[in-house]
Amino acid sequence: MKWTLITGGARGLGREISRTLAVKRKKLVIHYHRSASEALELQGQLRRLGVDVEILEGDFSTVASTQLFIDQYIKQFSDTDTVVNNVGNYLLGAATAIHPQELNQLFHLNVTASLMVIQSLLPSLKQSHGHIVNMGMVGSNAVAANTYASAYNMTKLALAMLTKSLAKELAPYITVNMVSPGYTERSIDLPSDLSSIPMQRPARLEEVAHTVEFLLEQTYITGQNIEVAGGTKL
Ligand SMILES: NC(=O)c1ccc[n+]([C@@H]2O[C@H](COP(=O)([O-])OP(=O)(O)OC[C@H]3O[C@@H](n4cnc5c(N)ncnc54)[C@H](OP(=O)(O)O)[C@@H]3O)[C@@H](O)[C@H]2O)c1
Repeated sequence: MKWTLITGGARGLGREISRTLAVKRKKLVIHYHRSASEALELQGQLRRLGVDVEILEGDFSTVASTQLFIDQYIKQFSDTDTVVNNVGNYLLGAATAIHPQELNQLFHLNVTASLMVIQSLLPSLKQSHGHIVNMGMVGSNAVAANTYASAYNMTKLALAMLTKSLAKELAPYITVNMVSPGYTERSIDLPSDLSSIPMQRPARLEEVAHTVEFLLEQTYITGQNIEVAGGTKL
């Protein structure tokens, strides 16, 4: 069995994805940046279940620091058949107030770093007919504008386009899909009135993680985006 890489897999949604994938995949690499203690604790937890889990730190803030992580990763885990690009940040603020540097940083973290990780693992992913899932945002399919998270929307829409382009370029060797949550239990902007969500509640993290797992097990679904959003933005 080859390695599965989950970026940002130590906390939040990434942690739930790591725990979910660990049930069937016996070789996981959990990337983390600041959440070292969470990563160690999760590694111990999953190792006790018999899973071969390694953790690897990496700062995805710049091209150089992302490359540093990639170089270390390739040295140790070149045999990788699955990547979940979960690292991503959120930026609240009107488009008129975005600082160009903030936008560039967010773009790098939400888009460029994922592309660099994919590019570096292509030989192994291709050889093993591997799978990639990128984490998007609700509304990517409908492309509705919103006024308080413009920079975040721009980066996630770029990631949606990248997902489709890569799916076309990398077929028939690798599937590339996207999972797009709306509000989750952990959303910082969860509305106090949940009636605006058709399903009347945020997503449970395991509901998102199981959708990632579902896509990683498919051999004929590629270039798709599944919204796990309880009907938000329909
Ligand atoms: N939660 C939601 O409601 C929601 C909704 C739609 C989409 N999503 C997407 O789902 C993904 C996970 O969401 P989340 O809510 O779990 O996010 P989160 O709690 O903000 O966690 C962000 C993750 O990214 C990593 N990260 C942040 N800055 C980094 C950097 N400079 N270098 C390397 N890693 C970095 C963090 O790692 P460390 O903690 O180790 O630093 C952490 O694992 C993101 O792509 C997000 O956009 C989430």
